[in-house]
Amino acid sequence: MNIVLGVTGGIAAYKAAHVVRLLKEAGHSVRVVPTESALRFVGAPTWEALSGQPVQTDVFTRVEEVEHVLIGQQADLVLIAPATADSLARIRAGMADDLLTATVLTTTAPVVVAPAMHTEMWFNPATVDNVAVLRARGVHVLEPASGRLTGADSGPGRLPEPQDIVDFALSVLREASPRTDRSDSGLLAGRRVFISAGGTREPLDPVRFLGNRSSGKQGAALAAAAHRFGAEVVLAAANVDSAILETLPSGIDIREVETTAQLESVCREQAAEADIVIMAAAVSDYRPAQAAGHKMKKDGDAGLTIELVQNPDILAGLVADRREGQTIVGFAAETGSPETPADELARQKIVRKGCDILVFNDVSDGKTFGHDTTHVEVLALTGTGVVGLGVFTGEKADVSVSVMETIAKHAVE
Ligand code: CTP
Repeated sequence: MNIVLGVTGGIAAYKAAHVVRLLKEAGHSVRVVPTESALRFVGAPTWEALSGQPVQTDVFTRVEEVEHVLIGQQADLVLIAPATADSLARIRAGMADDLLTATVLTTTAPVVVAPAMHTEMWFNPATVDNVAVLRARGVHVLEPASGRLTGADSGPGRLPEPQDIVDFALSVLREASPRTDRSDSGLLAGRRVFISAGGTREPLDPVRFLGNRSSGKQGAALAAAAHRFGAEVVLAAANVDSAILETLPSGIDIREVETTAQLESVCREQAAEADIVIMAAAVSDYRPAQAAGHKMKKDGDAGLTIELVQNPDILAGLVADRREGQTIVGFAAETGSPETPADELARQKIVRKGCDILVFNDVSDGKTFGHDTTHVEVLALTGTGVVGLGVFTGEKADVSVSVMETIAKHAVE
């Protein structure tokens, strides 16, 4: 998403540098628009280096590109952090004599402001009135934090921490996201989609298991996206946190499973009916040859050797029994190795597995697992070889919509 970060002239401007970084890490494109006075606190090179985009403050630079209108028009969100008392007054008045105010005046995207100022200024009736008017006009105002201010004084007026600003701004963006427009497309109306999510667990004894770090967020988000595209969705949830499952629309049929054997039986049953099968679950490749019926006890100082046997490859089985016209999607989380980069392993995997589509997550350096953001590449196996269908970065919820859309278009072609 295109986010405009307005920075106004307060001592807290330095904290906005971290805001840029967090937004970029979440996969967004960030255009920083500082005011002249903001540049007295943090210079343009810092903003340019962090955002990778040019920085200007006035409406007379790059006039031929009509930037004072374009930046606001192209924004998905305008965030101003810190927003000084002066900038709130100027936005309330509808001024447009610098690039930031002109951007706020032209945008139809949501506007979020994070005010920061001395307590007296924050409680001054002029500011109170400005904030009330801005709120009434639909501007999202993040309450300032309480704490140490610039001088020796303290009280409400402090800029909240960058992570809190970003969380607030992205929640506003999610609410307003064009995802809802895409959802109405009915792209998958009348189709049955089966998705597996989470990670299987193999019991060692009644209290211990072998498992993996998959949270199930991505698979659950795919199920939500398929549901929004009009599909009839069944989700096999392998050890997915109930907090994730509770956020799903009630129309999704959820089957909770624990082990690979349980998952395989649900997959077999559901794949027999589904038009699209998506194996997003991280399936344990091995399980203990025997699970103890009672809690295992330590045996003196001796180590413990557990014999593992291989689990069936569920995806391979589904590919072997593919129904006519069915699209089967695999997932690959790869870290790569010194010899073979992660994306090459993914290309080899789609050929080896024989699935129609492979969604490839780069999980090197602990990326992806349990996080809200992700970076995926969607590959398809065609008669002429492996082709890329798209690369998506951002919040798992947004990326899942794009991935589901890509799968749906490929499947109905
Ligand atoms: N998968 C499966 N059954 C298994 C293992 C994996 O259905 N026993 C599916 C996963 O759900 C995923 C895809 O296969 O969609 C790839 O999973 P991955 O663990 O990367 O594949 P492996 O075959 O285990 O490959 P390798 O161990 O060689 O990386």
